[in-house]
Amino acid sequence: MGIGVGQGIAIVVEKMAWPAERGEEVDQHKEKPMANGTRNLADEDLTRAVLASFEDSTSERFRQVVQSLVRHLHAFVKEVGLTEEEWFRGIDFLTRTGHITDDKRQEFILLSDVLGVSMQVIQINNQKPAEATASTVFGPFFVEGSPRFVNGDDIANGAPGEPCFMQGRVLSITGEPIADAHIEVWQADDKGFYDVQYKELAQARGRGHLYADGQGRYSFWSVRPQAYPIPEDGPVGELLDAANRSPMRPAHVHFLIKAPGYQTLITHVFKQGDPHLDSDAVFGVKSSLITGFERHEPGTAPDGKQMDVPFYTMSYDFLLAPAEEKDGHSS
Ligand code: BEZ
Ligand code: FE
Repeated sequence: MGIGVGQGIAIVVEKMAWPAERGEEVDQHKEKPMANGTRNLADEDLTRAVLASFEDSTSERFRQVVQSLVRHLHAFVKEVGLTEEEWFRGIDFLTRTGHITDDKRQEFILLSDVLGVSMQVIQINNQKPAEATASTVFGPFFVEGSPRFVNGDDIANGAPGEPCFMQGRVLSITGEPIADAHIEVWQADDKGFYDVQYKELAQARGRGHLYADGQGRYSFWSVRPQAYPIPEDGPVGELLDAANRSPMRPAHVHFLIKAPGYQTLITHVFKQGDPHLDSDAVFGVKSSLITGFERHEPGTAPDGKQMDVPFYTMSYDFLLAPAEEKDGHSS
């Protein structure tokens, strides 16, 4: 099963590729900086020498990123007085993080999530007008090629949970409907599990894609989401345990919305009143993304469906920021 983060990683790796890997010219015979300047070094002199060794990097961005990383790593080691045993345990932790990672499980992204790094990256790369719907973490449970639905369909496909009718509109930040916006939805069931976490399950449950209608409206049935713990049987779980931190995420539904001329929106809608809203393990909650999931007794649902069991309704409008102008063209 394709896991969405894999694609994201491929894009980032390509952007960050070393100059030679990107096909840029690298002068192999260029004199290495610090040819005779790496001896008898300690403390600030050692930091300075390492920084200088990257001074002639063939990419200016690469130099900036790596030098800053070195500066912060050296400062960190000195600030905490890192012991050799602690250094080794850190290396062992990262090694095990690598070993548990495969094309279905991305423990490094989970680590980035619980350290708040993912949200920092999202924040600085998604600056948009205040009216636009906020972005939040992508998470590891997106799957390419989800089933296609039309407005009003039930995307639960047998996922256990209480029925919930979700609806709203996709709008520009000035309130114009965005017709035909592409909407991907995925969510956990009432046990707190995504379909991909059930090893024997072959079909999608609680996920799919649909398109907004001519007035930007979307609607579908699914199940009421529940709070759930992030995967905690690996090194990240050990980290949370050692910190006495909860692995719980508040109940939410994931949305990925795309429309030409607008910035792609990756976000969640969170359930109002969830006890984990202020202790999200991955720091992804924004107040503007919280909404009510209202309970109704059996009867007529908003789409006219007759319900013989209690059901819930959720309504949320997404406001997309205009695409950024690049060289006179919108991206
Ligand atoms: C999620 O919401 O699916 C998720 C996000 C970050 C880490 C783990 C799970
Ligand atoms: Fe989630």
